[in-house]
Amino acid sequence: MIPTPHLSAEKGLIAETVLMPGDPLRAKFIALKFLENPIQFNAVRNMLGYTGTYNGKRVSVMGSGMGMPSMGIYSYELIHFYGVKNLIRVGSCGAYQPDLNLRDIVIAMSASTDSNYASQYGLPGTYAPTASWSLLQKAVAVAEAKGYPVRVGNVLSSDVFYDADPETWKRWAKMGVLAVEMEAAALYMNAAYAGVNALTILTVSDSLVTKEALPAAEREKTFTQMVEIALALA
Ligand code: HPA
Repeated sequence: MIPTPHLSAEKGLIAETVLMPGDPLRAKFIALKFLENPIQFNAVRNMLGYTGTYNGKRVSVMGSGMGMPSMGIYSYELIHFYGVKNLIRVGSCGAYQPDLNLRDIVIAMSASTDSNYASQYGLPGTYAPTASWSLLQKAVAVAEAKGYPVRVGNVLSSDVFYDADPETWKRWAKMGVLAVEMEAAALYMNAAYAGVNALTILTVSDSLVTKEALPAAEREKTFTQMVEIALALA
């Protein structure tokens, strides 16, 4: 079913490895700044997507939108209709732990969630959405080789940005969850169900602990490090 309900790309235009920032304009920025010969393959709903090369390897970058339903739709179509094998979310997160600082890089080994997304699989228990070991270990090795410090652990993929209960996050923090974002669990479940690879790399943009937040203009340096790690996985 190509084009899909949400993507207008023709067959063959999307690489086997796709980086997925939440913001489609971030996808455009990454394509224009990091890829050689980027070609735009999608603009449906302004969800911009591009394919180019990085160090001679073909790679795509496309927005995911915000939240698990949006990530769920786009990652599903990339996997099932375009044959994508490696999906790497690059995004931001809010720190849940006092020893995480603004601009730190977090790699989501696993993604707990308050969403009901897993109910579609009819499992008789609680599923643990997990990153692909192959991508995770390579990302950590690349970060070490480049001298970029990273924290690896559990994150929360939440359906709620503005929580009615301002204390809920502390219960996740008590369980060692490093940070909150809104898409990784859907990506990990879609990838697991389809037998493909997924990883999420995040930059701390704010802290629930200290209430600090990074001004948008200041994000670029760490953002660049996160994207360099992700592109090295292509
Ligand atoms: N909550 C949810 N998602 C986020 C946050 C947050 O505080 N910061 C960056 N992504």
